[in-house]
Order: sequence, then C-alpha cells, then structure tokens
Amino acid sequence: MKFFVDTAEVEAIAELNELGMVDGVTTNPSLIMKSGRDIKEVTKEICDMVDGPVSAETVATDADGMIAEGRELAKIADNIAIKVPLTWAGLKACKVLTGEDRMVNVTLCFSANQALLAAKAGASFISPFIGRLDDVNLDGMDLIADIRAIYDNYGFGTEILAASIRSVNHMTEAAKIGADIATAPPGVIKKMAEHPLTDKGLDAFLKDWAATGQRIL
Ligand code: E4P
Repeated sequence: MKFFVDTAEVEAIAELNELGMVDGVTTNPSLIMKSGRDIKEVTKEICDMVDGPVSAETVATDADGMIAEGRELAKIADNIAIKVPLTWAGLKACKVLTGEDRMVNVTLCFSANQALLAAKAGASFISPFIGRLDDVNLDGMDLIADIRAIYDNYGFGTEILAASIRSVNHMTEAAKIGADIATAPPGVIKKMAEHPLTDKGLDAFLKDWAATGQRIL
C-alpha cells in the first residue's frame, strides 16, 4: 500500500520523506487554510520535495470553473493531481482533465455508486472518506471493501485512495482490504511505529545492559 501524507505542512512532509515513507501528498482547502500559506507557493514547495502525485483541490462548483482551475493548478508542477469533488460537475471536469493526460483525484466520495461513476469518468484516484462516514455512524471501511470488489470485478484502473483516516487501525484495515493508497495525517503515520510492548521490552533491555557495565562504543 502506498502512503500519501494528508497535510500542507512542509516540515512534517520532509521528516517522513527522509524515511522514504511518502509516495505522494494530499491537500484540500481546509489544510491550505491551516498551513496559513499561499496555495501555489506551498504546493510548489511540496511538489519539489516529493516525487509522487501531489493533490491540489479546485474550489469552483461548475465544470468549466473546475477545468480552468485544474489547468492553472497543473502549471505548478508535473506531479500535480487535480482534485475535484464527486459531483456531476466534478465528473465532467474529471473526464475533460484526464482526457488532457492530467492526473485527477475525485474526492468527497461516500458511496460505491459514486466511486463507480468516477472510474467510468477516468479518474486516476478515488478518495472515499472513511473517518467522516464513521463520524455519522456508518462503516467507512465497508465502503473501501465495496469499491475494491467493484473495481476488481471490472478491472478499473482507478486507484483507491483511502482518505479521512483518523487512526492506526484505519491504516491496518485499509491495507488488509487492499486499498491502493492510504492518505493520513503525519501523526497517524508516525503512531504506526508505536507499541507498548516495544517500549516495555526496550526498557528491560536497557536496564539489563546497564547492569553489565559494558559499552558498545
Ligand atoms: C483527503 O484527500 C482529504 O483531504 C482528507 O483525508 C480529509 O480528512 P478529514 O475528514 O480528516 O478532514
């Protein structure tokens, strides 16, 4: 499973990128707002740092507006994936922009039928939002499983980008189901390294080592 980082915070991306953990980045208008940076400036900085796709989101609500914004965002770098919402207008924009050989990430997906339409419109990525479904007492992970089954049934090339990930368990489940990519906040990715038995085991080893009085260096 590829890891995308869901943030517009450059330092956090750089830290994970040094470890080879970053296969791409996703941003959205809320993340740009949180960063306090200019969208084109911060997106360019991220694109220069990361080899994989960097999603930058359009904000127009009509297809022509999304297409124009998408073309403008695509000028930032070759690795831009244009993000459009899963509306009828977004599907139209997806069709046009992918027809121009641009990567398109169709976002705000909450149903298997929406994901089916995005694949038919040629989307490069579909972003089902797990956490926001869980928030309203639905099972976000069921949606990932449904989309995986449907895409596999028909051999759609659209990659499933599990989004709105809130916990390390979401990462495990998305990987078990076979999501192509998971995009998660940097904190969730770092938390995947943690286990209380690792900490406990390390403490015990260090105490015993101290008792030997030896040094390695
Ligand atoms: C991904 O592309 C989205 O920007 C993101 O995962 C949304 O996550 P949230 O529901 O935690 O805001």
